[in-house]
Amino acid sequence: MAEEKIKLYIDDIQVEVNKGDTILKAAEKAGKYIPTLCYLEEINELGACRVCVVELADSNEIVASCITPAEEGMRVKTNTKKVRDTRKMNMEFLLSDHDVNCTSCIRNEDCELREVAEFMGIRDVRFEGEKTYHEVDKSTPSIMRDPDKCILCRRCVSVCKEVQSVKAIVPDGRGFETMVNPSF
Ligand code: FES
Repeated sequence: MAEEKIKLYIDDIQVEVNKGDTILKAAEKAGKYIPTLCYLEEINELGACRVCVVELADSNEIVASCITPAEEGMRVKTNTKKVRDTRKMNMEFLLSDHDVNCTSCIRNEDCELREVAEFMGIRDVRFEGEKTYHEVDKSTPSIMRDPDKCILCRRCVSVCKEVQSVKAIVPDGRGFETMVNPSF
């Protein structure tokens, strides 16, 4: 049976998508870039990082585009001041507890976090405060693990569970103390 289609507007561009598709998917179809960090299609769709927010023009509501279904006639704005400010604030909160020694980081030239920060024009973090510090785990020859680089997007947790069917790692602890750790 053919999928039911709906039409909506992304920055005044009309697009047609399948009913149930997200706003993020509709924006891709309209050729509009929306930054994402935690999102992995069909694997990690939690709405955790909130860097993908957009504004609903009729209600001025800010929503995470990666988990909000597109609706018939919806009018979505991807680049209003409110959108830019909200994305930037959410990104700065993430960076406020991140080891930002990028020049010495092994991922320096291949870092999604840095790319998104650059896209948003982030040069400084306004929310400098107490940071968490953890030892770098070099206990195996195959993996080096630096928890201070983790932004708790949980993509690794979902891939381990949904793709590998292993469930070896889970978010552990609460709030500021949360870390991704082996189960038990
Ligand atoms: Fe949408 Fe993280 S990418 S909430």
